[in-house]
Parts: sequence; structure tokens; C-alpha cells
Amino acid sequence: MRESVAAKLGVDRGLGQRAELGMRCPLVVTLAVLVACGGANPTPETTPGAAAPATATARARTRGRVVRADAVVTGRPIVPVDWQFSDRVVSVTGAHAMVVSAHPLASQVGRDILRGGGNAIDAAVAVGFALAVVLPEAGNIGGGGFIVYRDTTGRVRALDYRETAPGHATRDMYLDSAGHVTEANLTGHLASGVPGSVAGLYEAWKSYGRLPWAKLVAPAITLAEGHALDGYRSRSIEAEAERLAQFPASRSQFLVNGHAPPAGTVFRQPDLARTLRLIADGGPDVFYRGQIADSIVAEMQRGHGLISKSDLKGYRAKWRTPIQTTYRGYTIYSMPPSSSGGVTMAEILNIMEGFDTLPAFGSARYLHLEAEAMRRAFMDRNRWLGDPDFVSMPLERLLSKSYAAELRAQILPDRATPTPPFQASEGAQEGTETTHYSIVDADGNAAAITTTLNGGFGSAVTVQGGGFLLNNEMDDFTGAPGQPNQYGLVQGEANAIAPKKRMLSAMTPSIVLDRKGRLFLVVGTPGGPTIINSVYEVIVNVIDHKMTLAEAVAAPRINQQALPDVIFLERGGLTQATVDSLKAMGYKLQERGRQGDVQAIQKTAAGWIGVADPRHGGGASGW
Ligand code: DON
Repeated sequence: MRESVAAKLGVDRGLGQRAELGMRCPLVVTLAVLVACGGANPTPETTPGAAAPATATARARTRGRVVRADAVVTGRPIVPVDWQFSDRVVSVTGAHAMVVSAHPLASQVGRDILRGGGNAIDAAVAVGFALAVVLPEAGNIGGGGFIVYRDTTGRVRALDYRETAPGHATRDMYLDSAGHVTEANLTGHLASGVPGSVAGLYEAWKSYGRLPWAKLVAPAITLAEGHALDGYRSRSIEAEAERLAQFPASRSQFLVNGHAPPAGTVFRQPDLARTLRLIADGGPDVFYRGQIADSIVAEMQRGHGLISKSDLKGYRAKWRTPIQTTYRGYTIYSMPPSSSGGVTMAEILNIMEGFDTLPAFGSARYLHLEAEAMRRAFMDRNRWLGDPDFVSMPLERLLSKSYAAELRAQILPDRATPTPPFQASEGAQEGTETTHYSIVDADGNAAAITTTLNGGFGSAVTVQGGGFLLNNEMDDFTGAPGQPNQYGLVQGEANAIAPKKRMLSAMTPSIVLDRKGRLFLVVGTPGGPTIINSVYEVIVNVIDHKMTLAEAVAAPRINQQALPDVIFLERGGLTQATVDSLKAMGYKLQERGRQGDVQAIQKTAAGWIGVADPRHGGGASGW
């Protein structure tokens, strides 16, 4: 069932700036919403920056533990009246189960698996392979990813199937004679890490799957034999046509006379269908030791890449303990290193939790607090985090509430605090070429999965005869300490290149429990470093600002990642008054396109709500 989301207009009274028409307020009327919308019981703001001590009324008791209750939000959400996504977002409801992914066909595959008796992990495997076919810019078998999985007993585990550096990789392999990072970590054979996706999906299935493996790969084979290309995918191929044209197998797989096939074309990928059939029959062995491994190594030899037979044979997906934190009594599970997502988001949440009173969504004072929390969390990310098998990290301290209190105390009431100089980059890009999908099955098992080739279409190299793209994940390593990567991230030693090491990720597949410990949200997104902030923003939009899930996903986003020292904002996402106030506080602002592509599920009394981000062409499918 699909229902569109409407919103009503309001007038802000919380900022002391000129009144801004067109702020949107959730329609669902609860007391909390009335408070958030300034419709009842207006409360004066505390001074931002000071961690207001929690008062007796601001605390609640849950299962004997004292936890923070709702923040008091002063003022109505401030969103420009013509914000482009407010009216485009849809909620899909399902009484039993839900799948939300970046492609409607992949979500339908997942729903059919669930309806046919499969569980969340069965669906995760089927959707993962389907995305490798219908979403070639990000869905993959030549990349890697992460799953955060919670079963109905309440056990939560994290599966790391991140790519690894090839055995012959070296710390300075991307530096030219002047010490600058070259483009070899972005396009071409040298850019690829050892793929983890097939091993990861198989490991998840071996641990939790219910249906036969081959049955889960089958829908992807059917799609690879031919499916109608939609407008989004046609445009995303066209955007990368020049890069793809450099490699013969990519040219013949994706382009017709040098261009993307137009929308509506029946897109056939016979090589990929054959590869998927091999995987359906032979599992990961054929990919890591057999015929497909041979094709990958042959491709590497053709293009002077590094991935060897022994790299493939030695690849392992790894179960890890998820990052767990609390936020105002909710529990958040997310991905631990080798992703930075869980730790960095937990730091932001811990800093923000100390503010019992929050300025209105979209106000300069609120964005100031968020930007300063993000800045500090990203400084720690870039300094400390890396592959846990290679570096030791002060995780206990980084995740502690007392450390968050120290960081919070550094935030000035009304001024930006510049990131200490380290060489900033001016031109950080963002994109959506990773993909996230969220699944809840009929028993209540939940899986949050984010997977990627890194940049759009990865290295742009398709394995000849194999029909699948290889990743360019090597760019996620520190190419040179202090020099920015394609996302403008400036990172340090902990993430330096070493053989067989996993490059640090920002992917943040997350599961949120409510104050009673029940499944509440499943959420994640692409977007390079913006991933962490986008996931954080959706979670607090729901918890603090009482937005519906659709409103929370549609709401404008910002990104601050320490360096470059800029607040990135979505074009048209902030009012002029907010922009002016932020500039007056000392912020540099930079408008960009869309931030992220969130795919999220929320528990409701009636079942599940699925929301695909209106920024792109995803879809939810429930039953
Ligand atoms: O693992 C990471 O953090 C990146 N490789 C993700 C890249 C990404 O999200 C691309 N889309 N914008």
C-alpha cells in the first residue's frame, strides 16, 4: 500500500531571525510533535554549547536503567517551502515484512523471497545479487560490503566483507615522483581491492539462510538475461560512458555506439548471467578458486593489476561485534571497523545527546551544534580508525559518554571552531554509487546491508567474459597522509595501504531499537563520508524531531567531515536566513546536489513502513 506524505506550512518563532514561511511540520499529531512544531508549551532554548545537565523531568526510567527522555525541541522545523523532495517521498506499508532498496526490481525480488518462506538473510542474498544486475553502478559481485543483522532472539552481529589490498600492494603505490596521489586508484586495474561480496553473501547464508543458495541467485540470473532499463540507470551509465569506454569488456557490456542504452531498452548481460549461474551452482569456490578466479586474474594480467590467485584464495569475510551505543534511551547498532561508520556516528550521537534542549531542525543554531559534533567525530575517524586486524584503536574512549562530554564542552555557543590545519581539499565530491538495502522478515529478523564498488562503476573495468565490474576501493586507503581522496577525506597513518589490509570505509548500515528494546529502525545509505552524517540525520529526525520516516528521509541534509572545513548542504535545503546566520558564525558553506540515497524501514503498530529515498530511483516492497 502506498500513501503520499503531505506536510503543512508553519511559521518559525524560535530563531529570533526574520520569520521564515514554509517550514514543514509533520501531520501526525502527537504531543511530542506539537512541542517540536512549537504548537504547545513553548520552552526557552538553553545556550547551545553548554551541556545542560539532565533534569529529573528530562529523564525516564526504562527497565530499571535511567535514560534520557526526549530532547525539548524549541521551534518548528525550518525547511524551504519549495524543498524538492517533501512531496515526492512515499511510504509503503507491509503487515508482515519489508524490503527497501535502490531499485524497485531488486526490492520485489526480496519481497518474493520473503513471501516464499525465506528469511531476512535469504532476501539479503537475493537482493544483493539482483542489485549486481539492475544497479551496475553500485550493486556488485566485484566489490564488498557490510551487514548488520539482528535476529529475533535479539542477537546482533556484523559481517565484514570489505575488499582487501592485494598481497603485492605497497604503501606508496599511487604516488608519482613528486609524491602526489595519481588517478591509478580510481580508474583501471590497479584501483581494485580483492572483492568480498560473494564470500560475504555466502557466509551470511551459511550462518542464517533457510532457502537453497541456488534459489537465491536465480532471480538475478533471470534479470541478467534481460530486463527493461529504467531512466535512472540509463542516465547513470551515460554519466560514466567515457570511463567505461576505455575498457573493451565494459564498452560491450554497457554501451551502444559509445552511449548508454536508452530507457526502456531490454538490457541483456549474457556474460553476467553465465557468471551468476556458475555462482549458483558452485558457490564462492568458483569465484575465489575456480573459473571466475581465473578470469579475474587474466583480467589483471591484461591491465597490469595486482590481484592474484592467492589473494582470491585467501579472502575471508569476517564476523565482528557491532558498535552499540544509546541515544536518549534508544539503542543503535552499527558497523565497527573496518568501517568507521558506527564509531563516528556514535560519537556524533553521544555529543548531541548531552543537549537536553535542541534548537529547531534547519535552524542555524541547530546546524551549528551538529556541524561541530560531526567535525570532532570525523577528526577522530581520520586520525585513529583503520582495519582492526592491523591497527589498534582507542574504541572504548572514543565511544564513551565521558569523552563525548569533553568534546561537547569544546563547542562554542555561537562560533565555528576551525578544523586544525592538515592540508584541506577544496573539491570533495559526493555521489550515490554505493547502495544500501534494508530488510525485515515476517519473524522480525532484520538486516541492514551496504555494499559498493566505491565510485560509480568502480574501476570501470569489466572482467572479460565474466560480465561484472571490479571495484576501485583502493582509493579509500590513505594514498598519502594529508592528501585528500576523491571524497575530500584527509586521512592518516592508521589507514595507510598494506598488503591484505582492509581500507577504511564510511558505510553505516544500522539498526535502532526503541526504549523497550524492540526493533524500531533499519537504515543506511551511500554517499562516501556523507553516509555517516546522513544516517545520523535520519535517526535523529525521527527520534528528536518526531518526523515520520518519510519526512525524516526527505528532509534536507548537511555534511561536515572536518576537512575540507566546509558545511556541505543540499542545493535549496536551507533558508537564506539560516545560511546567513551560519556564515556569520564563521562557517564556509558549499551547495551540492543530493546527499545520499537512504533506504529505511520503521516498525509501526500495524507492521512495517518502508521508505526509499526520493532523491533517486529506489523502491520499497512489502507484504
Ligand atoms: O566505503 C566507503 O566509505 C566508500 N567506498 C563508499 C563510497 C560511496 O558511498 C560512493 N557513493 N557515493
